[in-house]
This record gives sequence, C-alpha cells and structure tokens, in this order.
Amino acid sequence: MTHKTLFDLPTPSLVLDRAKLARNIRRMALACARNGVALRPHLKTAKSIDVARMVLDDQTPGIAVSTLCEAEYFAGEGLRDIQYAVCITPDKLERVAAIQTTGARLALITDNAEVARAIADAQDRIDTRFRVQIEIDCGENRTGVLPGSDQLIEIARILDAAPNIDFDGVMTHAGHSYGCRSLTEIETLAEAERLAAVTAAEAVRALGIDCNTVSLGSTPTALHARNLDGITEARAGVYMFGDMFQAQIGSCMVDDLAVSVLTEVSSHRTDLNHLTVDAGALAMSKDRSTEAVPNDVGFGLVRDARGRSIAPQMIVKRVYQEHGLVPMPEGQRLEDYPVGDRLRIFPNHVCMTAAMYDRYHVVDSASGNGTDIVAVWPRANGW
Ligand SMILES: Cc1ncc(COP(=O)(O)O)c(C=O)c1O
Repeated sequence: MTHKTLFDLPTPSLVLDRAKLARNIRRMALACARNGVALRPHLKTAKSIDVARMVLDDQTPGIAVSTLCEAEYFAGEGLRDIQYAVCITPDKLERVAAIQTTGARLALITDNAEVARAIADAQDRIDTRFRVQIEIDCGENRTGVLPGSDQLIEIARILDAAPNIDFDGVMTHAGHSYGCRSLTEIETLAEAERLAAVTAAEAVRALGIDCNTVSLGSTPTALHARNLDGITEARAGVYMFGDMFQAQIGSCMVDDLAVSVLTEVSSHRTDLNHLTVDAGALAMSKDRSTEAVPNDVGFGLVRDARGRSIAPQMIVKRVYQEHGLVPMPEGQRLEDYPVGDRLRIFPNHVCMTAAMYDRYHVVDSASGNGTDIVAVWPRANGW
C-alpha cells in the first residue's frame, strides 16, 4: 500500500525531512571546503543509497561504512571507493574479496600486527589485493595504535612488505569529541586529532613508506576544526541527520534535525497526568546520551506531527518495549492530545534509533505542508 501523508502511515515509522537533510549536507560540505579537505561521508547512520546520492559530489573521494552489509549494498549500487572504518577481522577477508569482484575497492583498517600478518598470509587462498590503513588512537581510547608507537612501525612494515597489500595510509576518529561541552574544547580536540594523524603519517613516511591517505573525523571535529593541514580527508556521518545529543554539543540546532519517529497517542492516565505513545524502547532505542548534556530529553523530544515545537519539556520520560510515556509538562493538557493523535519524536542518538527501521518515509518541510510523503527510501541494516 502506498501511503500519501504522515496521517495515513502506520506508526511507529521513521520520517526523514529531505529539506533539512540537504541543509545539513551543505553545512558540512562548506566546513570541509573552508579547511581545504575532502569529505568522505560516513554512511553508518544513513545506510541509504538515496541519501548517498544527495551527499556525493565530484569532490567526494568515496564513502565510509561501518558494516560489510553496507559495503555490499553500496558496492551493488555502483559505489567504488568504500572505506570499511571498523577494524577488520581475518574471517571477513573472503567477503571483502567477493565485494571487490563487483569493481568496488574497499579500504580496510587495522591496529593489530597479527591481523596485518593474517591479511598478508591470505595471499595463498584469496585472489584479491587488499587496501589497508592503520588506525591511530588520537585519545578516544577505543581502538588504534598511538601515533609514535613501535606498533605503528611494526604494522606499517608488515603491510608495506606484503605483495597482496596496498598500504594506503593512516586514519583516526575523535569519538571522544562527544564529551566536549564547548566550542573551544572541540577546536582543541580537533587539533589533537589532526596532530595524531599527521604525526603517525610522518612516522610512516620516515620509514620510506608512502602514506597517501591521512584521514580523520567525527561530526563535531569535522565541523569545527580550524586547520586541517596535512589531512587528505575528513569522515563524518551523524551530521546528515543530527539528533538531540548533537544539538546540545553544538553540531546543529533542534530545528535542523532531519529524522524523527512518527508515533500515535495510545492511552491517557488522567490520574497521573501522562499519556503514552506507541513508540517505546524498540522504536526509539534506550540511548540516554542526553543525560550528560544540559537539557535531558529522556528518550526523545516530542513535537507535533509537522515537527513543530510543543514545549521544551514535552519528552518521552520512560520507555517500555512498545510504550513511550510522556508526562504533561507545565502548560500542556492531556485533552489536547487525544488517543489517535499523531506526534513526532526526535531521538537522542539517531544512528541507534534508525537502525530499527528498514526504510525512511521522506517528507519535505520546504515544500507544501511538510506532511506529504514524497519518497520511500530503503536502508541497509544488519551486518
Ligand atoms: C571510525 C569512525 N569514523 C567516523 C565516524 C563518524 O563520526 P560521526 O558520526 O560523529 O560523524 C565514526 C562514528 O562512529 C567512526 O567510528
């Protein structure tokens, strides 16, 4: 069945505002252009070829992905340069080789000498050339080797010596920028991210090994970096949609958020002055990242069906598997939101929320009333 507007869609459904998406894409493109660096959009959040088509231009070197499922999907859609930006494990190499038979070229990442050797050893059984980058830890303390470490040198030598490997360079990710609470902090961290990548690249070059790619990025640092000298490309992903957490750490405004969950009021408890909606933990995720920022919005900010503000404290306070509980804030009355009323919830962490849905229902707030469904775009979920 084809649904025409947000008022005849089943709920919960994932809604994407194309006009806001376009604006967010422009903003990041301008930020990267200002620093003279290419943007490699990370499609881990969007997982959609339709979004990719909006974000890719002739300056874009390629895309980044976080699963091989995404790599297969985008390769199948004809994209050719795909960085798989999660440490590769040797059991996935056959799948990588199969993807490369489509004509796509993956860039793999590792921070581990044993894995580097396993990729080199795969030449006996896998007939493909692997392009590999070394992941550098710029302070996130998740994965990566330190920029001046012996491990970096050891891995670079193994990769460079292997006949079946094209050593491609270094990459880092300042995921800890999500802990920054001011622009100055983000700018400082962006410089630390840049220095880590450039220092690592120089250490590799000092061995006489080419280091073509020097890649970094997260949405906050890519948007706010003041200098990206020595960097060949920035990766960022969540900026395309934005979310309630990003809005509070300075990546966007709440009015920029492009993705929300359409929900319906399912019950009233007049004695407790709350309503429930049919979007609970599965529809929103249990991400509580806004607990750490000034304006905690529980499990998401509730707005009207057109995405317009109701009240800053109109939030999903508690979730159960299929229920979201919305207490009435000061000035709001339950009777104004009857059972069957439609609302939109803006999530804390859009990557987590979107992962439960297999498609976007696309609206366009810049044309008409913003509730007509102008397209349905599939997503590539899973691993
Ligand atoms: C390795 C890597 N690069 C880039 C990104 C993109 O960061 P953001 O979603 O903040 O744009 C991520 C996000 O998790 C990542 O893991």
